Amino acid sequence: MTDRYCVIGNPIAHSKSPAIHAHYAAQQGQDLHYEQCLAPLDGFAATVQRLVAEGYKGANVTVPFKLEAARLATRLAPRAHAAGAVNTLLFEGGEIVGDNTDGAGLVADIVRNAGVTLEGKRVLLLGAGGAARGAVLPLLDAGPRQIVIANRTLATAETLVAGFAEHAGRLAVSSFADLEGSFDVIVNATSASLDAAVPPVPASVFGPGTLALDMMYGNKPTVFMVFAAGHGATVRDGLGMLVEQAAEAFALWRGQRPATAAVLAALRQSQQ
Ligand code: ATR
Repeated sequence: MTDRYCVIGNPIAHSKSPAIHAHYAAQQGQDLHYEQCLAPLDGFAATVQRLVAEGYKGANVTVPFKLEAARLATRLAPRAHAAGAVNTLLFEGGEIVGDNTDGAGLVADIVRNAGVTLEGKRVLLLGAGGAARGAVLPLLDAGPRQIVIANRTLATAETLVAGFAEHAGRLAVSSFADLEGSFDVIVNATSASLDAAVPPVPASVFGPGTLALDMMYGNKPTVFMVFAAGHGATVRDGLGMLVEQAAEAFALWRGQRPATAAVLAALRQSQQ
């Protein structure tokens, strides 16, 4: 029997995940079917229970259900616990296992696709919401010298960092205006790009070798990417992260990590 998976969200019609996973399944010779699943805003838990009852093997979870998925899971992977959010569910042995591959996808995109190592580097993470929280542990695991978390609301960044007390020596908090020095890697995990806004960071955060990545993507560079490129940074959008988080989820479900380059190239092509 063909194993079934889906991506649960609301809205979900524009999700690229079914196409990405169809490509991975074909590439890996895996017999699986992956579809979209629109859950009512008040019906996420019921939707998951239905999928379990129908014999689905797992699901991805997207906006606005990632926090609810973390609460619903009967077991959480450490990185999902740290993120407080789940983007990947595995249904196995009567359990709903929650994991989070977003941060691993981000790191994979930086290291594998952009070819930038994080070891010993100085990293700036903009934002302290769900997207930023999910990135902290995977970024720390990649061995940077320091991660500075800057947020519009400083208290939210302070609360986030307090949750990673054992890494306190490598984590710092700042307001946007007080940021000092340049960074090797800057990740925009704010939702500002959705409002065509740029976090008001000083131009000095960008050095000649800075990689600036926006987790958002669209058919043109985000305002943050334009701003960063204008100050000499190399820029990336979040499409590579999307493709890589999907590869990490596929690996969790199927035990094989697919190659991502062809999917990323095809998605870039279709954006133009
Ligand atoms: P997500 O799940 O996408 O992370 P979220 O949890 O609502 O969404 O977090 C949104 C993040 O973007 C927050 O860090 C928010 O800053 P505040 O904590 O100060 O609200 C940040 N953000 C949203 N709009 C912004 C803007 N125009 N400029 C700077 N930061 C912004």
